[in-house]
Amino acid sequence: MKTEAALDWKTEAWMKALAKTQRNVKRIGDGFPHASQNGRYELEAPHWWTAGFWPGMLWLLYTGSRDEELRAAAEACERRLDDVLNDYVRLDHDLGFMWTLTSMASYKLTGNETSKIRALKAANYLAARFNIKGRYIRAWNPWIEGEDNAGLAIIDCSMNTPLLFLASEISGDPRYRHVAEAHMDTVVRDFVRPDGSVYHIIRYDPATGERLEGLGGQGYAPESAWSRGTAWALYGLTLAYHHTGKQIYLDTAKTVAHFFLANLPEDHVPYWDFRAPDEARIYRDSSAGACAASGLLLLAEKAGAVEASIYRTPAQRILESLYRNYGAWDDDNEEGLILHGTSHVPEGRNIDVPLIYGDYFFVEGLARLQGQGPFYWE
Ligand code: GLY
Repeated sequence: MKTEAALDWKTEAWMKALAKTQRNVKRIGDGFPHASQNGRYELEAPHWWTAGFWPGMLWLLYTGSRDEELRAAAEACERRLDDVLNDYVRLDHDLGFMWTLTSMASYKLTGNETSKIRALKAANYLAARFNIKGRYIRAWNPWIEGEDNAGLAIIDCSMNTPLLFLASEISGDPRYRHVAEAHMDTVVRDFVRPDGSVYHIIRYDPATGERLEGLGGQGYAPESAWSRGTAWALYGLTLAYHHTGKQIYLDTAKTVAHFFLANLPEDHVPYWDFRAPDEARIYRDSSAGACAASGLLLLAEKAGAVEASIYRTPAQRILESLYRNYGAWDDDNEEGLILHGTSHVPEGRNIDVPLIYGDYFFVEGLARLQGQGPFYWE
């Protein structure tokens, strides 16, 4: 009697992620999902920082499937972002997240010259946010009239600097790389603590560049350890090493990775803050797990053969646990792929829900496990 060979979990996970996304694209199309509430992804305005993750995930799944509906939606999202790029006023440091996963992805995959120009425009705006005195990329613009946040830099921006490294690569002009390196040097010096945990926000005096204080931001407290921020640092530093070969980035990425891994609970998926007290910890952040897993897989490649398994094995464990324990595979009433993401506890927003960046990094991690690039940050 013929029996069907069991698929391994990675193949199974990929097929389920693809099937769910093929269903989702029919409703979401060129929209910009962020958090899923009551089973449906809420769509944000295109200028929101998460706008790149849905099209980025569509490109990843398109690469593995050649499903043209996915590609068409990714390209439509990229075109919709033109209004944001041309509007200028809403642009902040998240230009990197937004245009790396749309225009840079499209240019890498298809050679589309219009996408290349968009990516370079975005890189120019991002580079222009550099504060020369403080050697950091400014995070946000004022949220309210008169607010002064010109001195704030955040760890998330570690994932925005790849756009600058890539802009230097494709334009032949080293200026973008200089800015990216200066900012990542600041991350190493000012954001990463000796134990490998990180600050979310550092406030500088924007006029003199003096470092004033660390702030809690999306973490529990200034001296706590927000898990997604830790993942941004881990992955961003590894990417900075990939683009520059500078040993300090690799060494620091390893320090951050060891902190992250040493603080995981039994099911390998982090709480939202590693150092929040027990009564405040409660929620997991599956998106931090997914992002760290994909970063760890790149770190495993960069660390060399002898050390690779130190990073690859736990990355696989995280992804497998996300698949088996956090996946919403059999729930047709849930658009999210991965449950239990936590966006912003201090502001009480999007807690314990699927988040589009959790879905994105889960799929990216699977693609890495299967050797199925290219990866747009590289
Ligand atoms: N501030 C971006 C994030 O939630 O990670």
